[in-house]
Order: sequence, then structure tokens, then C-alpha cells
Amino acid sequence: MKINRRCFVRGLGVSASSTLLPMSLFAQDVTQNELQIPALHVGEMQAGRQHYGLQLQSGTRQFLRGLTTPTLGINGSFLGPTLRLKNGSDVAISVLNQLNEPSTLHWHGLHVPAKADGGPAQIIAPATSWQPTFTVNQKAGTFWYHSHLLNKTGEQVYRGLAGMIILDDEESENLEIPSTYGVDDIPLIVQDRRFNEDGSFRYVGMHRDVMTGVLGDRILVNGTTSALFSPSTNKVRFRILNAANARTFNFALADGREFSLIASDGGFLEKPVTLRNIVVAPAERVEIVVDFGDGGPVDLISLPLPASSPYSTIGMMRNMLATSTESFTILNIEPQSALQHSAVLPGQFTSIRRMQESEATGTRRFELSMPMGMGMMGRGGGQRGGGGRMGGMGGEFLINGKAMAMDEINEVVPIGSTEIWEIHNDSMMMHPFHIHHGQFQILDRDGVPPSPEEMGYKDTVKVGPGQLLRFIMRFENFSDSDTAYMYHCHILEHEDNGMMGQFTVV
Ligand code: C2O
Ligand code: CU
Ligand code: CU
Repeated sequence: MKINRRCFVRGLGVSASSTLLPMSLFAQDVTQNELQIPALHVGEMQAGRQHYGLQLQSGTRQFLRGLTTPTLGINGSFLGPTLRLKNGSDVAISVLNQLNEPSTLHWHGLHVPAKADGGPAQIIAPATSWQPTFTVNQKAGTFWYHSHLLNKTGEQVYRGLAGMIILDDEESENLEIPSTYGVDDIPLIVQDRRFNEDGSFRYVGMHRDVMTGVLGDRILVNGTTSALFSPSTNKVRFRILNAANARTFNFALADGREFSLIASDGGFLEKPVTLRNIVVAPAERVEIVVDFGDGGPVDLISLPLPASSPYSTIGMMRNMLATSTESFTILNIEPQSALQHSAVLPGQFTSIRRMQESEATGTRRFELSMPMGMGMMGRGGGQRGGGGRMGGMGGEFLINGKAMAMDEINEVVPIGSTEIWEIHNDSMMMHPFHIHHGQFQILDRDGVPPSPEEMGYKDTVKVGPGQLLRFIMRFENFSDSDTAYMYHCHILEHEDNGMMGQFTVV
């Protein structure tokens, strides 16, 4: 621990706008804590398969000085180890549930059979284990795993049931880029949390928490509060996972320096893209390389989302999300005194064949809506899907006019097809739309093709208020008419309250 050298973020982007609330959120502790790096779990070879053992368990952590927070974790008290997978390998995972409540574990972004996907149907009862097997079959990238229990995903992830997955392939192993885990290849699982006075997590109270999704006033990085990282190399690759339930971050370096974006959800971009900030919604991942060669301290921060951003909340919901008008520190960074030299980044990482609209064999349309009428006043919500929803607390969250129902398969996709999915956001806030089963390519937003940072493979995509986003995706494997994959908004309180649907690939 050490004394904090800065109490607030300098300069950048904070306007004297009247939308700033007189609240001081995201105040950091006086002391900083060394960034924790999740343990690497590389598995072990057993009977021809790479075997990974995972245990869901409960525990406690001290996030706030002198206070104990009850938590959930995987092979530990909060969050889980980083699973390292290799393309082509046959994998067997054993997930033992030592909690006194049911759960599931979903491999977000992995192309696996529906039965191995860990969605709401693959429930792991207390004191039982679940043993999915699959063959890794996709490009290198940063993925993650998390609870996907129906109506309870938000709460279980909030308490700690999430972790990172790093997938390597031959191409990635031969690239001259920072790739020493924990040294110059750093996982950053970014979350915001709110606490009660007794130190426990404060999860969902008012209907506002459901409308906007649960927003916290403390930043955790890999479960570390007021985290400090001290690079030992002049270039560092950060694998940033937005594992927040609802908060979108606009990552930047505090002095406005440029960085290189090298990968998005589904793996490497073809070429590095030079940026000064990047907006990352819940469940999205970005890999960036930052140069610390000048030796000076510079924090990773989150800038406000400008009102002009297509992802900003509009209309009467706008004041509910006022906290996103602040800048705040994500990670304090203070390079060590002698930095090891890193190689110059290659000019090309991979090649990505752009899928053409003409390859599509079908088109589907999805309307995302959150009718607020009576629902907001305490009706609606719970009526439709019933079950454990926080009915009436936050209106309704619908896709094509329907709330998620476990016994309803909403879409049947023919195996071997290439489809265009049109996602239309008919609400006042951005929804990060996620589909299971694999990776897609963005075709356009309101007719405008993606900018270079969105030209790679994606599994979660921001759809701003009023926007029409189109992506193209292939559904070529794993025919199964009984077991569905999910598509949903990745603001977990929206997902838990109905903004989810099911599809089979047959
Ligand atoms: Cu991150 Cu349906 O999942
Ligand atoms: Cu997923
Ligand atoms: Cu949403």
C-alpha cells in the first residue's frame, strides 16, 4: 500500500456541464492496493482431454477497510482463475457447486455445443457437479465465464461468480506482442460495486436499479479496490473485460496519450488501431497495448460519455444515468524505474475475411423495448414471465414484445445457415446485445459500416437508443433441437427481467 498521489483525475474531458451532479462518486481510498492478478488455470491432461476443475464457493473479502463482505467465487473467495485454453484442444470442465443455491456457469464467447454452454437450462444444483466437454474451435482471444442462472444472473455475478478465459492459437503464439501473463499481459476485470454500511454488497433496491441496471460507486479491478499496477516493461497489453452488471466505461489514459487497440471480443483485429479512448459496454472485451516508455505515472481512467454519443441515454431516462457524466480512475499506473524493452508491435495480427451480405440465407429482426407505462408505477414486469423477477420494480424488458420464458424457443436457426440479425433499439438507453453460439461481424449501424475498432469478431455489441444494428453470423455446428442458446441484453438486470430470448440451431 502507498499514499495516493492524486485525489482526482486531471484535465481531460470533464466539462463544466450542468449535468454534473454535486456528488463525489468514485472517491478513491487514501491507500492504494497492488493489483491482484487472478491465478492462471491451465488444466491438466487426463485421458486425452485437458481437464479443468472449478468449484463454486462462498467466502468473504475485505474490500473496505475494517469491513467484511460476503462473496462468491470460483476456486477462491471472489471471481475465479483465468482459464487458459488452446485452440484445437479437447476440453473437459468439472464445475462443482459448493454453494447452498443453484447456479450455472456459461463460457461467454466460446463456440460450444448448446448442452455445454452453461446457459439457464444447465442448472447445477447444490452439492452436484456439471461436466461439459467440447473441442476448442475458434481464434485466439479474451473471453469470460459467469453465472447465467435465470433471473439471478445479475445477483450471482455481482457477488463474484465470474472469471476470464484466455484462448491461444498458433497464430497468437507466434506474434511478437506482450504475452507474459501477469507481467506484460495483464487481465483487467473491471467492475463497479456498491456496499452497505456493514460491508456487504448492496444489490438492487429501487426500480431505478433495474431500469438503468445496478451501478456502483466503487471500482474493482480483479477484485482490487484503488488498484495500483507497476509496469516492468515499456509496453503492456491490457486485456480489459467489462464485467460490470450495467456500467459502460469510456477507457482512456489520464494524460490523453494514444494506445493501440489490438483485439475485440472474438480475437485480434487485422491491424492495430490507434485510439485515445474506447467505449466498452458490459461483457465486451478489448485488448489494448499502452506504451509507458516515458516512465511517468499515468492512470487508466474512464471518461464521461458525451451527450452527443450515440450510446448516451436520451429522453426522460437521461437524468437517471447522470453518474456517467463523471471521469474516474480505473487503475493507478506507476512504471518501475528501469523498464524492459518491448518489441515494436507487428503491423498485422491476423486476417479476417469480411462476410458479405450476399452470403446470408436469412434475416431476422429483434426489437428491444422497455415499455415504462404502468410497469414503472408498480405493475407489469412480474406478470409476464413470473418466477423470480423483480416484478413491478422497473417496467418491462422485452424482445419482440416478449419477456424471456424458459419453456419457449423463440427462434429456430437452420444449421449451416448464414444469417443477418437486425437489432432495433426502441428504448431510451443503449443495450449491449449478446448472442451465444459464436462470433459475428457487424454489417452496419443505421446503414453506416463499422469503424476500424469494430471490424473484428464480436459477440456483444452496443445498440444505442433508436439505432438499428445489423450483424452477420454463421451457424454451422452443433445441431440440437432440445437445447437452446440465448440472446440477450448484457445489462444483467435487463436480462434477468426479461430481455432475453432462446434459439436452437437445428
Ligand atoms: Cu455473458 Cu448469455 O452471457
Ligand atoms: Cu454468452
Ligand atoms: Cu438492456
